[in-house]
Amino acid sequence: MAQKAAEKAPAFFGQQEYAKGLDGVIACETHINYIDGAAGKMIYRGYDVEEIGERTNYEETAYLLIYGKLPTQSELDDFKAKLISYRSIPPEVIQVLKIIPTAKTHPMSALRTGVSALGTFNPDAEEQSIENYEDIGLQLIAKLATIAGAVQRIRAGKEPVEPDPSLDHSANFCYMMTGEEPSEVFEKMMDLSLVLHADHGVNASTFSSMVVISSLTDMYSAIAAGIRSLKGPLHGGANEQVIYMLNEIGSADKADEYMDNAIKNKVKIMGFGHRVYKAYDPRARIFALHSKELCEAAGKPELYEIAKRVENKVIEAYGEKGIFPNVDFYSGTIYHCLGIETAMFTPLFAVSRVAGWVARILEYLPQNRIFRPRAIYLGEKDLQYVPIDQR
Ligand code: SDX
Repeated sequence: MAQKAAEKAPAFFGQQEYAKGLDGVIACETHINYIDGAAGKMIYRGYDVEEIGERTNYEETAYLLIYGKLPTQSELDDFKAKLISYRSIPPEVIQVLKIIPTAKTHPMSALRTGVSALGTFNPDAEEQSIENYEDIGLQLIAKLATIAGAVQRIRAGKEPVEPDPSLDHSANFCYMMTGEEPSEVFEKMMDLSLVLHADHGVNASTFSSMVVISSLTDMYSAIAAGIRSLKGPLHGGANEQVIYMLNEIGSADKADEYMDNAIKNKVKIMGFGHRVYKAYDPRARIFALHSKELCEAAGKPELYEIAKRVENKVIEAYGEKGIFPNVDFYSGTIYHCLGIETAMFTPLFAVSRVAGWVARILEYLPQNRIFRPRAIYLGEKDLQYVPIDQR
């Protein structure tokens, strides 16, 4: 038996490469998304994201990512009706969000707590059929917006509002955050943002949720893992850091000096660079266009001007290294102009990306193999134990 197991184990270090951060390592096969990092192009299930962004809505995009095709009208109607029926959350989850210091803690910490609490109220949470994983996945797509809306209301010192079944997903999410039906511009920009953030290859948060589900644990644990990873400033948390930076710069005439200092001191500029894109992130290009419009409409044209000067300075300094704006650079200016609290920018990202996490999990499970990489051991060997009174 030992001999057979040894034969199965790959010969390490001769065949295996050590790739820091798994850079360039292929972890799975997928039909969901493809990123051409050199060309700055990205597709959802074969459709260019720039076309998807401008022509679909979040429900249609979530359906495409999960089921692999654009829905017919009746399929979309049924899908929307199901998500609407799944929006409500147990009142006890609201209580949990009120018991923890939601107004003081990071909203992503409150969001992950809400998801974990939600799972404890589902008696079927541990059932491992693909149908149950799919059903809980759809529940979480619907309910993450409800939990994030409740987190925002509690942070604002207000009572959470019940979902409005007459509103589509994006409009209802805006409503649950603000307590008012959104303007047409607000709804349109929110929907575009949810569409553009929905999936993006095997990024850190998607990989986190896949690694967790690969042990055949429950869906709530996997999605909560995605939220935990997305929170970090090197990943989804960059969008709020961008606004803090632009506000710190304060005015367009100070941008050049600020950036010269940052570049001289090798500061990582939030909203720039990417493991895969070595060109302009196509999502950033779309957000940049809308950012200019929105900043002007919100009477904050200088915010866009500052962002543009930051972009020019970074590309001038690092463009040759393939460092360009990523999805997080202009999205923050749009949320800011919509009046969304900066700390809520990353929960918006999670409310969108949950569709990608669910789609990836449902794609991976039928071919599941638990993720278990190796490490190169650099420590000592064959040491003799020394009793404590002789050390
Ligand atoms: C997202 O993976 C995805 O798809 C993520 C995402 C998605 O939709 O899921 O696209 C969303 O997370 C976008 C990224 C948001 N994060 C940021 O904006 C944070 C700032 N960016 C960097 O931290 C960085 O670019 C990463 C984390 C995004 C990528 O890091 P890598 O691939 O590990 O690159 P690296 O840190 O090894 O950097 C390579 C070189 C280094 O210089 P040298 O040591 O070779 O001289 O590029 C430099 C870095 O210093 N560099 C930067 C930089 N990003 C990389 N220098 C200044 N500012 C930056 N932003």
